[in-house]
Amino acid sequence: MNIRAETSGDYPGVARVNNAAFDQENEAQLIELIRQSDLYVPELSLVAVDGGDVIGHIMFSYVTLETPAADTRILDLAPLAVHPDHQSQGVGTALTVHGLELLEERGEPLVLVEGIPAYYPRFGFERASLHGITPPSPKIPDDAFMVKRLSNYDPKYRGQVRYPPAFYQADAVGPSA
Ligand SMILES: CC(C)(COP(=O)(O)OP(=O)(O)OC[C@H]1O[C@@H](n2cnc3c(N)ncnc32)[C@H](O)[C@@H]1OP(=O)(O)O)[C@@H](O)C(=O)NCCC(=O)NCCS
Repeated sequence: MNIRAETSGDYPGVARVNNAAFDQENEAQLIELIRQSDLYVPELSLVAVDGGDVIGHIMFSYVTLETPAADTRILDLAPLAVHPDHQSQGVGTALTVHGLELLEERGEPLVLVEGIPAYYPRFGFERASLHGITPPSPKIPDDAFMVKRLSNYDPKYRGQVRYPPAFYQADAVGPSA
């Protein structure tokens, strides 16, 4: 298995993996909308490839943190998907670990995720509310909105998170998403 940044040739494979993993098309739509926005970071949309096939995908893109001082762009992990035929074989872990290493290299202060409370703490994610970061919607349970503080973390990064329109257009906010 190889992990690398996605190219346009991977787009159909990325959609196929997300549709199969989530059993709905919201996440593939979210990915497409993010790609069309200025919040997209191509080198932070990673594919896990095995035998020429995309078997997993992770994307980090920018959302807004409304701090007392100013609005700041912060990276958010969404979505993460591993094709059902390849789950529980370490692919999701490899994608997440690789992505977090890239964020450290970029000097990012932190990364957010809205996701499975039982999965992300193994990577050092904690409830965002513990660090004064409020989810973008009351639909999101407190334990599902998490932050990983990176080496460059500073407690000034606190406030209300605002998702860009793509998340609402793709109906990708909250547990029913
Ligand atoms: C969640 C997901 C990305 C994990 O990827 P993966 O390659 O299957 O996971 P890994 O092999 O790296 O890790 C396996 C571990 O994750 C745990 N895990 C997987 N899915 C989980 C879930 N839904 N809830 C809790 N734990 C989960 C497994 O129990 C296993 O734990 P263990 O190491 O203690 O045995 C993948 O299962 C997936 O695509 N699921 C459907 C889409 C989804 O829910 N994405 C995440 C949205 S936040």
